[in-house]
Amino acid sequence: MTARTPTGTDIARAAELIHDGRVVGMPTETVYGLAANAFDEEAVIEIFEVKQRPAFDPLIVHLSGARGLSEVARLNDLSEQVRAQVELLTTRFWPGPLTLVLPKVDDLPDVVTSGLDTVAVRVPAHPMARALIVVAGVPLAAPSANPFGYVSPTTAQHVADQLGSKVPYVLDGGECGVGVESTILAPPRAGVSEAWTVLRDGGLTREVLEEALGVTLVDGTVTDGAPAKPAAPGQLASHYAPRTPLRHGQLDQLVREARAQQPDARLHVIAFRDVPAGLQGEGLAPNGDLRVAARALFAAMRRADQAGADLILAERVPDEGLGRAINDRLRRASVPAVLS
Ligand code: TXA
Ligand code: MG
Repeated sequence: MTARTPTGTDIARAAELIHDGRVVGMPTETVYGLAANAFDEEAVIEIFEVKQRPAFDPLIVHLSGARGLSEVARLNDLSEQVRAQVELLTTRFWPGPLTLVLPKVDDLPDVVTSGLDTVAVRVPAHPMARALIVVAGVPLAAPSANPFGYVSPTTAQHVADQLGSKVPYVLDGGECGVGVESTILAPPRAGVSEAWTVLRDGGLTREVLEEALGVTLVDGTVTDGAPAKPAAPGQLASHYAPRTPLRHGQLDQLVREARAQQPDARLHVIAFRDVPAGLQGEGLAPNGDLRVAARALFAAMRRADQAGADLILAERVPDEGLGRAINDRLRRASVPAVLS
């Protein structure tokens, strides 16, 4: 048995640990993060160790408000037009599930950004996260608080269960309201891309972003293959994966194929709305609301993994709005793990 990780609501204690160069579990509106002082190189290295995360996978820096942006990003390196667009986005969508990839300041340790000259930054909407950043008085580098490659945590208990004694404290802010990670967006950049590019679909939809910017976004999410050094390792083909094999697609077809290929396999279904009669599993959103489905997704994947099934069959949801982020996570979970 691993020692039980304390969970609680003591922000002063969490801030003290951050100050001492430790990592703590932090609730956000999307998923739980594993937070450390972004300017403390040793503490950031500890994040990578706890998560068993490869060093090529950069972290997101969390701020308490857009005012702190210049501490980590060099806005003057952006064209006037892009700067205005960044301001529009931050005014409209922060705090919230939007991460922007911007030129980094030199002082920010390279471990945070895996040596890239850009930093991914966002202002979380969870009041406890913002309170922690304010009390700690520093920007917090935080990836999702799961072992690398596994399903992201949406409760403090998920973090405690998986990271066990490796984390001294997990702030408990209840169940995450959004349930999938932030949307990652990069502005046009000379020599890199000519347009605003989505690097990861997430809690803020492309439709809403396109409406706000008045442009069509370029799809920078990679769905096939696993690039050696992905721009956003949410882009790794195998990610968010439960241990039990998972297939993703049209439900009738998945069931038919599974029964034909493995007649004795115990199946567990993750349906969008309802589980068809005669099958075991759960529906994400009986009312068909994609927000409800996103909120339920990762916990449902964990339960499916613990159900003692041989195969998880996950239904494709409508590929629009938040459905894109949901299908993306399920599709990546369905690729056999190559990362051990
Ligand atoms: O909702 C979220 O974004 C959550 C909560 C905790 O804030 N965080 C999260 O972090 O999902 P993580 O580490 O699991 O995913 C961060 C993603 C990675 O895929 C990483 O590659 C990408 O952000 N990223 C970080 N810095 C980047 C950069 N400079 N350029 C491109 N992608 C970057
Ligand atoms: Mg993650």
